[in-house]
Order: sequence, then C-alpha cells, then structure tokens
Amino acid sequence: MRTRLIAGNWKMHKTAAEAVTFVHEFRKVLSPSTSIDIVLAPPFVSLFAVQQAMTQEDRFAIAAQNLYWETEGAYTGEVSGSMLQDLGCTYVIVGHSERRHLFGEKNDEVNKKVKAALAHGLIPILCVGETLEEREAGNTQAVVKDQLLKGLSEVGVENIPTIIIAYEPVWAIGTGRAASVEQAEEVHAFLRATLSTEFGEISQDVRILYGGSVSPQNAEALFSCKEIDGALIGKACLDPVVFAKICGLADLAST
Ligand code: 13P
Repeated sequence: MRTRLIAGNWKMHKTAAEAVTFVHEFRKVLSPSTSIDIVLAPPFVSLFAVQQAMTQEDRFAIAAQNLYWETEGAYTGEVSGSMLQDLGCTYVIVGHSERRHLFGEKNDEVNKKVKAALAHGLIPILCVGETLEEREAGNTQAVVKDQLLKGLSEVGVENIPTIIIAYEPVWAIGTGRAASVEQAEEVHAFLRATLSTEFGEISQDVRILYGGSVSPQNAEALFSCKEIDGALIGKACLDPVVFAKICGLADLAST
C-alpha cells in the first residue's frame, strides 16, 4: 500500500515572513491524526525560515523547488543538493514544466538533478507532462515516457521506490482546467507500466502524483482513483485552509 502524498509547490510566492505565517496557520487547521505525507515547497529564500518555524510535532516536511547538480563551485545563482540537505529539506522538485518551458531545462539536465538529489539524500519529485499541442498530436505517451526514462537514466534500481513521479499535463497547470480522472488515470497507468518494464516489480512502490489545477472541488474524485497516489498542487496550496482541506480529502480517501 502506497502512502498518499500531497505536496504544495509555492512557486514564486510568499516572503519569508509570509511563509512563517503560513506554517503557523496550516498547523492549526491540519488534522493532527493525518496519515498521509505532506510536503511544503517554498522558494529557496524561505526554506530556512520554514524549517526554523517547524516543530517535532509537525506532520509535514519541506522540499526545494529546484537544485543544481554540482556540490559547490563557481555557479552564480545556483543552489546545491548538499545545501538543501543542510537546510532540512527532505524532498526536491525536479524538472517542473515551468523549469523545462520557461528556463529551457532539458532531460539530461533533469537527470543530473535527479542523481544529485539522491546523492545528497533528497527525495526527487520528478515532474513529467505533455503540452496541449503534444496531446492533440497524440504524443502524450511518447513525451512522458521520454521524460520519465531520460530523467531516471543511470539511477540505480534500488533508488526507484524512493523516487516520486508527478504527472503534470502542461495544459492543466494554472488554467483551472484539470485533467479528467480518466485522462489522469490513463497516463498514470502508462507511467507505472513503463516503470515496471524498465525496473521490474519494485515499481509498484513508486508514488505517482497528479498535478494541474487540483482544488478542493476536484480532489475527491482524483483521489478515488487507485492510480493516483496524491497531488502536486500550485495555486490551491497557497492558502493554508484550502491546502489543509485537500490534505484532509487525501487522508479520507486513504482510509
Ligand atoms: P496549479 O495547481 O496552480 O495548476 O499548479 C500545478 C503545479 O504546477 C504544481 O507544481
């Protein structure tokens, strides 16, 4: 049985002070008995403040939104896996479609980041997803397979169950137009079948999240699907009450 995971990708939102306020408010509204894994991914500059605001009792962990693959050196503006580990990050988002499409990240760079994350004890949340053009041209499976297998190239099979995959169709991100349960289910099943072919039975342990316009309105239906192990949430994670509601729905679906 895979433990459901809900991650909130704050993208470029909230100052450090606002991030701390979020933690205080989220703690108040999150059910203390939650049985799912919950992850907050604030911007780099708020990670320290969030980590400092967290207590032993908190039922959530932190993620960075990106990393660089070198450990240290003359790489102006970059942040390494060892720095993130030192800050208390448990997870790191890798290959988000905004990194791929706005900042030109390629599969080989995504792969270096996945490997660097693992080398520093961070759990990569590897994002894959097709554009609307690619979907309409019937290329969804080819695109996500390429992103998945190139992203996981040279990753030892022993690391596979640790890695989290997030299927985020680009056309569903920030558009209010989430994939239907059937659309998500189809791609999730394809991703798992692809993992199974490549890495064997161990792939059954990999959690595959859905991302793209997840809200309290559509979360219940998405979480009722056995292929969907949780969600990577953008807009709806910025309000602690809304985010806690989605976490509650995931928890409910797990019982
Ligand atoms: P939205 O939930 O705002 O569509 O964003 C999804 C996303 O990109 C999470 O990484």
